[in-house]
Amino acid sequence: MTGWFDGTAGVGTVPPDATMILGHRFVAAPAAPPEPVPAPAPGFTSRQLRDVMGQFATGVTVVTMPGVDGPSAVTVNSFTSLSLDPALAMVCLRTRSRGAADLRAAARFAVNILGAGQGDLCALFASSDRPSGHQAFAAFPHRTGRTGAPLLDGTVGHVECVLESQVPVGDHTLFVGAVLAVETGSADGPLVFHGGRYFTT
Ligand SMILES: Cc1cc2nc3c(=O)[nH]c(=O)nc-3n(C[C@H](O)[C@H](O)[C@H](O)COP(=O)(O)O)c2cc1C
Repeated sequence: MTGWFDGTAGVGTVPPDATMILGHRFVAAPAAPPEPVPAPAPGFTSRQLRDVMGQFATGVTVVTMPGVDGPSAVTVNSFTSLSLDPALAMVCLRTRSRGAADLRAAARFAVNILGAGQGDLCALFASSDRPSGHQAFAAFPHRTGRTGAPLLDGTVGHVECVLESQVPVGDHTLFVGAVLAVETGSADGPLVFHGGRYFTT
């Protein structure tokens, strides 16, 4: 404990934070404010972060949603099943992206889990000048789901959701959907994304 002897004999009223030592009052010094702890600088580059995250193999989906000017779509691999009861699923999109703006406006979406032969769809809907609207979707066999979002043919499955909540996290937003309808598709196996390349199983 740090402090000081105030040099006076301990007579009269002794303050509650004082200790009597050999008849002198020892008054404790107020606790020093904690030193600010500097946040550790990240020990990696953005490239290293992307490279190691890319080692986590995922499936690939095309998330479709209805819109006033017709449907739109974006390629997404952050799709996750969140809860079985209630049935909830999630996709995570860069907050300042066109895909996130479309999903926010639609408030509903369909997750088309791509089949092994659908690498072309994945590339098309990952491009920033990707087409949208009814005419764009006319090029791909599909039907309209219960949410009004296109359900693409040839996938391994569809999950249709109504947007339940949005959670901004860093530069992305988690879009949590209440699952409205599901369907296992006809494709033989999934398209797999690993290390920036596509694989089939
Ligand atoms: C395999 C693959 C997975 C992707 N997954 C995501 C994702 O989970 N979230 C996301 O925001 N963008 C993802 N992207 C990028 C988007 O597809 C798209 O390039 C981006 O949204 C373009 O920005 P825009 O929506 O503003 O045009 C992925 C791209 C690829 C090729």
